[in-house]
Amino acid sequence: MKIDEISNLLHGGDYNPDQWLEYPEILDDDIELMKEAGVNVVTLGVFSWSSLEPEEGVFTFEWLDNIMDRLYENGIYVILSTPSAARPPWLAKKYPEIMRGNFMDGQRMPFGGRENHCESSEIWREKVRIIDEKLAQHYSHHPALIMWHLSNEMHGLCFCENCAVNFRKWLKNKYGTIDELNKQYWTAFWSRRFTGFDEINPPVRFGERQLHGQVIDYMRFYSDLHIDFLEAEKEIVKKYNPDIPVTTNMFMQHHTVKINYHKMAKSLDITSYDSYPMWHLGKDKTSEWKTAVWASMRFDFMRALKSKPFYLMESVPSAPNHFEFCKLKRPKMHMLSSMLAVSSGADSIQYFQWRKSLGATEKFHGAVIDHDGSSDTRVFRDVREVGAKLKEMSYLKGQKSKADVAVIFDWENMIALFEQQNLRKDKELFDKIPRAHYEAILKNYVNIDVIGVDSDFSGYKVISAPMLYMFKDGVADKIRRFVENGGSFVLTHYSGLVNENDLCFHGTRRNPAFAPHGLNDVFGLRVNEIDALCDDEFNEISYEDKTFKAINFCELTENLGAKTLARYEHDFYAGLDAATENEYGGGKAYYLACNTDDDFLYEFYKHVIDHSGIPRIVDSGYVKDIMVKERAGRKFIMNFSTEKRRIGVDGEMIELEGYEYVIIESSLKKSYQEGKI
Ligand code: GAL
Repeated sequence: MKIDEISNLLHGGDYNPDQWLEYPEILDDDIELMKEAGVNVVTLGVFSWSSLEPEEGVFTFEWLDNIMDRLYENGIYVILSTPSAARPPWLAKKYPEIMRGNFMDGQRMPFGGRENHCESSEIWREKVRIIDEKLAQHYSHHPALIMWHLSNEMHGLCFCENCAVNFRKWLKNKYGTIDELNKQYWTAFWSRRFTGFDEINPPVRFGERQLHGQVIDYMRFYSDLHIDFLEAEKEIVKKYNPDIPVTTNMFMQHHTVKINYHKMAKSLDITSYDSYPMWHLGKDKTSEWKTAVWASMRFDFMRALKSKPFYLMESVPSAPNHFEFCKLKRPKMHMLSSMLAVSSGADSIQYFQWRKSLGATEKFHGAVIDHDGSSDTRVFRDVREVGAKLKEMSYLKGQKSKADVAVIFDWENMIALFEQQNLRKDKELFDKIPRAHYEAILKNYVNIDVIGVDSDFSGYKVISAPMLYMFKDGVADKIRRFVENGGSFVLTHYSGLVNENDLCFHGTRRNPAFAPHGLNDVFGLRVNEIDALCDDEFNEISYEDKTFKAINFCELTENLGAKTLARYEHDFYAGLDAATENEYGGGKAYYLACNTDDDFLYEFYKHVIDHSGIPRIVDSGYVKDIMVKERAGRKFIMNFSTEKRRIGVDGEMIELEGYEYVIIESSLKKSYQEGKI
């Protein structure tokens, strides 16, 4: 079956029948229960290698044949996984070089864990090729198969000698000569001048980590290696049926995962995502707003990767087992969080996991079916309710809504920010600040795409680039052109400081160069210095007769013609600009010289969005804890508070109880309204 021809949204999850082969009654139950829960897809085989090839060269696919056939007969489609995320013990015992070299000293790790193979290992690639080829030969034309799931949550780095050899080749290809590399890495520092590529090693903790360009390059190199590995798996499965799309389930934090998802997405037909927000663990126990923002930003990132709907490959119907506190989803939260995903562009709601295993580390991880085996549970009822709801929402399938606003959350920029040494030891802020900007825009009730610097800027009216520290070649020009052509661009403190190798831009006495690099005329200012504030410190800025807090970072700017929006009130830089607006070409360039409290950011983006003429999804100012998204002409109004909230939509007041949502079809206004639960 072609996935595009399925008219409904998908609902299902990771299913591990190979854990239950000795329990035929359970397998019978599963199919019945899936139908009852409105499940129309399962992901099979993610960690099944030892069930598929119990001994080297001995393949046992009968159990999978049987389950695939039965699922199909019962109207349930299959996303089949290649098993390369975890290998059987016999494989690592015979070929220990498939395991990764560790981060401390590059020594090979012993067997254990998962998603920890050396992607440079030829024998690893060969063994994966064999099992993938067998699976593809066998199942590529099975009528239940709708998609290949390549590996699982690829991530991390290997630091072994084989990777060192490949890294050196990668560097030679990038820099051409060792002199150029020395220049870019600034190796005269601490006597690090290399005389040949063979002197360069992976940056392990006990060795070289001072040359930031090298550290960033290692992550780029390994990201390319992961993608190359993924491409190899894709080539094999596509050989047998090019019409079956491929995906891989992506993690949450793209900068900690060490894979450039913007690049990786090009290798995929469909992007998919595993979402595990920490519901009910926020500081404010009456509001899930911040957690919802966290989840929403990642959904908007996943959708924007290919500018089309993504699949929510994993989520948990109750509580996972790996948080510090594994809290149950409160009543109505499962539905609400699922609606957040579909309103953001998910074409599926899938779970990890369908049935809880009886042993091993995930035996208490939330699942649709618990150890009791019953459907008479709160979780099952919640899942069934979502299944029924999704069935009514086939109008969303394949539909993506337009966003006029984008926030840049760029992978290379993020890893550079995390690696550089300046401002503060606590790097969390580099993650929190872009999110605070995203949140402020979201509160203005517009759709947002979360993009990278290499993404196409042309479709947007407003682009916000919080802490765009790294200006790769062409970035400054791209921003200039965007503003020239009528766009509004927001840049903040700590932007335009280094090139793609983390080498600082510089000037000379006759020709000085100030941040943001190459854009002083566009923003009408220059940055002279930046001050870091302690956690308990703040400055104040006044904006439109109100006072707000400046926190964390305050830049000292010099105005070159921009209009002042806000000034610092205290300290030796009192009176200097904290926020500015500059007309350039047909557009506007905004600069925020400091991080601020959430209230200022909301007001600031209100101003930017108002002036760029972008229509709001609803004609209301932000109502605390109410999130609004628009997809396929439907407005999703979602209350992330436990309390009742009221919001004006299309001229009418809508009241939502705690954790309630409503969907309103725009064109027909309130006459067609559904979903109030
Ligand atoms: C995911 C992983 C799953 C399962 C899940 C538990 O990251 O892909 O296999 O471990 O976490 O939350």
